[in-house]
Amino acid sequence: MSDRTYSLRLFFAIQPDSSARQSLAALATDVARGTGGRAPRAENLHLTLAFLGEVPHADLANVEAIGALSAAVTGPFVITLDRVGLFRDAGIASIAPSETPAGLARIVEALRQALQAAALRVERRDFRPHVTLARRCTRPLTGAAIAPIEWQVDTLTLIASQTLPEGPRYRELASWRLSGK
Ligand code: 2AM
Repeated sequence: MSDRTYSLRLFFAIQPDSSARQSLAALATDVARGTGGRAPRAENLHLTLAFLGEVPHADLANVEAIGALSAAVTGPFVITLDRVGLFRDAGIASIAPSETPAGLARIVEALRQALQAAALRVERRDFRPHVTLARRCTRPLTGAAIAPIEWQVDTLTLIASQTLPEGPRYRELASWRLSGK
């Protein structure tokens, strides 16, 4: 198989710990119900740091080296998700932190710089951290304020995404402990 056809759809993400995952899954179910949208499966909930799109398999070792390097720019940190919003045009509901932790910003910057230096795809838009809670929402968000969801972030993960008729399937390819200071 040539590199052109043998590619992987990749992204770097952080994944909630089990208690944050439970809270996010419950919130996603509520939000999907209220907005007429569809919640992701609980095991798919994540926060994307860099989306690479289709990457030839031959570049995987490079991408993994970039993951290892970027995980070393910060130690573990806490992220507090406290703002639920709906992008009306896209019909996507998400939850975001009102403050981006410095450690998160450092990893994203390291990923972008290293990806660019390796001539791999880099997202040029501003980084807006969020966890998608529901897609195809048709009604506005209503409801009471939510309790903030905190999670202790200690690992960076490289994920391959496959689009199947029943929805996306994510496969963890590699992960690195946040080992900086
Ligand atoms: P989203 O949650 O806002 O949809 C896998 O698709 C992950 O990569 C999702 O978290 C998705 O964000 C993110 N992503 C970022 N840019 C993307 C793009 N151009 N196409 C698809 N997914 C993208």
